[in-house]
Amino acid sequence: MGFKKDFTWGVASSAYQIEGAWSEDGKGLSVWDVYSHENGNIANGHTGDVACDFYHKFKDDIKLMKELGIRAYRFSISWTRIFPNGIGEVNEKGVKFYSDVIDELLKNGIEPYIALFHWDYPYALNKKGGWLNEDSVKWFAEYAGKVSELYSDRVENFITFNEPQCFVGYGYLAGVHAPGYKVSYKDIFQICHNVLKAHGSAVIAIRKNARKPVKIGYAPTCGAMYPTNETKEVVEATRKKYFSCPSISREVMWNVAWWSDPVVLGRYPEDGLKMYSEYLPKITEEDMKLISQPLDFYGQNIYNGREVELDDAGNAVFVERKQGFSKTGNQWPVTPKCLYWGPKFLYERYKLPIVITENGMAENDVVSLDSKVHDPNRIDFLNRYLDELEKATNDGVDVSGYFVWTLLDNFEWTRGYNDRFGIVYVDYETQKRIPKDSAFWYKEYIEKNAK
Ligand code: FCB
Repeated sequence: MGFKKDFTWGVASSAYQIEGAWSEDGKGLSVWDVYSHENGNIANGHTGDVACDFYHKFKDDIKLMKELGIRAYRFSISWTRIFPNGIGEVNEKGVKFYSDVIDELLKNGIEPYIALFHWDYPYALNKKGGWLNEDSVKWFAEYAGKVSELYSDRVENFITFNEPQCFVGYGYLAGVHAPGYKVSYKDIFQICHNVLKAHGSAVIAIRKNARKPVKIGYAPTCGAMYPTNETKEVVEATRKKYFSCPSISREVMWNVAWWSDPVVLGRYPEDGLKMYSEYLPKITEEDMKLISQPLDFYGQNIYNGREVELDDAGNAVFVERKQGFSKTGNQWPVTPKCLYWGPKFLYERYKLPIVITENGMAENDVVSLDSKVHDPNRIDFLNRYLDELEKATNDGVDVSGYFVWTLLDNFEWTRGYNDRFGIVYVDYETQKRIPKDSAFWYKEYIEKNAK
């Protein structure tokens, strides 16, 4: 038993959070470049202008990955390095950068996973209405098709969207991520529908332009849920709650089913259709066919979850977290069971191989007197979470990969550089990398579990 023979052991990252070189070699502006340059949007006025300087240091970083025994690297492409204006003219230097990254990964025996969209939307397209414009569907397909044409000779695995809940919910409804808007509910459901259609169109474009057989997935998120005990009633109530749609509020984008049922099952969930009816755009059968293109794997970013119990009236409710419950450096709860129940519920509903496309934790890591970075809490976290994932596998859940978020400490969106999520410490003054204890732990863990 244990993890599958061909299980993918990786680390994940995203372009804006690590690359830097924000205006180099012909790269166009993204909404994150603009948003982070505006006063007050990011803690301490931080920006991704330099970040980890991966743009210049990728060879060393990939070498380090190899030394750490990492088998797969999930990274995102900065859309505006390839298309500075989002569509149209291609920037050869940007094309070359990712081509070099891919070659370097392959040379070091590391499997590349390309995520097409990790939030850094082209500013030029944003000015044309961005995701609210229905043309955004074909813009994204053009970009996806190009990436496939360029790299599918060497890359097998593609992911369309990272966490649509987050960039749509935070970026367009709460207004706390780029582009920083607070649109109406009517607009938010239009955006959502456009993003889902863009996903389907991208899947078609990737397959059409692929030079070799490819595998395509999706990487949404949302807190998981787990039952307080394993009685049938509580498990069923938890499952129901996990896949239910929230009522209209600024949090409405935070759910699993609205974002994943259309993609995998080809239909929006009934409860949402009812609750949101007055805000929904026209949804046709053709749209649903487009959105539900066949996928090869189902990715999900899972960091934590809520415990569910039944109250006296038999309603599924969240168990209040006890005083002093364990939490990470950025106050996220530590709830290992989410990596058992999350994948289990998702697999039972969507019936696709599950890839944990992100999991990890922030900590207030420091360089100790011995010049090393000791992060026992992260080791404990990863160990507990992976134990649960293994248990899910043993109970018949088809889990095919796991990616730690993340290799390098990096730009954590509105929190700037305040959260350190890496298994490798980055000294931002010198750009020196110091593998934390957890990096060596992960190396050993992979060695033990990869067959
Ligand atoms: C996820 C994002 C990723 C990173 C981690 C900590 O929501 O996909 O970019 O910020 O959280």
